[in-house]
Amino acid sequence: MNAQQPIRLAVVGGRRGGSFRLALQSLAERLTLTTICDLSEEVLAQWRADHPGIQTYSRYEDLLDDAAVDAVLLATPMYLHAGQAVQALRAGKHVLSEVIAATTLDECWELVETVEQTGRTYMLAENYCYMRPNRMVLNMAQQGVFGEITFAEGGYIHDCRYLIFNADGSTTWRGEMRRIFNGNGYPTHSLGPVAQWLGINRGDRLVSTATWVSKACAAQLYARDHLGPDHPATEDRYWQLGDSATTLIQTAKGALIVLRMDSNSARPHNMTHYTLQGTQAAYLSARHHKEDPLIWIDGRSPGASPGDAEWESLWNYSDEYEHPDWREWRAVAQKAGHGGGDFFVLRDFVQAIETGSPPPIDVYDAVTWSVIMPLSAQSVAQGGAPVAVPDFRRGNRSL
Ligand SMILES: NC(=O)c1ccc[n+]([C@@H]2O[C@H](COP(=O)([O-])OP(=O)(O)OC[C@H]3O[C@@H](n4cnc5c(N)ncnc54)[C@H](O)[C@@H]3O)[C@@H](O)[C@H]2O)c1
Repeated sequence: MNAQQPIRLAVVGGRRGGSFRLALQSLAERLTLTTICDLSEEVLAQWRADHPGIQTYSRYEDLLDDAAVDAVLLATPMYLHAGQAVQALRAGKHVLSEVIAATTLDECWELVETVEQTGRTYMLAENYCYMRPNRMVLNMAQQGVFGEITFAEGGYIHDCRYLIFNADGSTTWRGEMRRIFNGNGYPTHSLGPVAQWLGINRGDRLVSTATWVSKACAAQLYARDHLGPDHPATEDRYWQLGDSATTLIQTAKGALIVLRMDSNSARPHNMTHYTLQGTQAAYLSARHHKEDPLIWIDGRSPGASPGDAEWESLWNYSDEYEHPDWREWRAVAQKAGHGGGDFFVLRDFVQAIETGSPPPIDVYDAVTWSVIMPLSAQSVAQGGAPVAVPDFRRGNRSL
């Protein structure tokens, strides 16, 4: 490919793909959306109406045969991601995969091996890593502000019950997952930023994990209220997935991570929760949209621990610790989706292809974070027993 020409991108799964539009506009000189692939003729027709001249495919294999496509953005239901990524890599395409990367242990290994064999660029589009406070905390952690980090929490708590039924009362793929899976089914929004703060796969690694899940109540109530008392989804036995999952993870260096995942419980819209604890500082993400995230830094913030230590706004330190990404790109990123994340994942993907260097969220990160899903089911099935986390880098910390 001529380095001067923009990378020709195909979006696979046109619904979520649509929310990348603003980010794509900002990168137009380096990345062009040329092609859409979706099973739904309705989705394809909408793209053709909005982007006259765009190439559309309903068969994924036909898209892979198209030599005019350099890279694919996979935004299909998540159980398809790993298989479609492997197919695309083997067809010579670069891959940006929506979360999560894979849903079984075997898929995780196949993905790693395929990226290693093909040498194509593979990146996980974990946009929560790029949100402004998460990026700033990363910068502070990397500069040693937290001292020795001992503990972190990540939470993704988002009432998504409105996405589990089709209009006719049948279950969508998200609903089907709730029927057949019990564990932490969506771990990367919570684990991704935390893993970066802790230097996972870059000096430390995840070694052991266990998951416990509460009873399932919320989906039945939702079915009763929206589909009527006679729908089978109102019965407890219809659902495997409990409402709230808590995952514990131990790292090789002895840090402890707690993840919470809940996509069922009724509550106001406030999806994320993060904390970070080190020997020198502590971080607490905003509890409400309009609040500031909080930090306490020993010797700099007001008071001393434990007596009169006081939280202060993280933004008090933005002159000093704003991440370079946000210093440079704030105006552009703020217009893109998911707190700027949708812009930065595309930018870093393009940069990795252009330079041939590993992307910042590479296949090892993608599978290390995603494997928590199948391992959580294994742990739950064993009464919450700890399960070993594979070392996908096979001991090579410097890859
Ligand atoms: N990172 C984020 O913040 C974020 C936000 C939303 C969704 N997602 C992820 O994006 C993905 C898509 O989510 P969604 O809400 O758009 O789902 P959706 O069900 O609304 O849309 C999926 C689309 O994929 C199409 N599709 C299904 N099978 C296909 C196939 N074999 N080939 C081509 N197209 C196919 C469907 O027709 C549909 O248009 C999921 O993996 C989800 O986890 C991530």
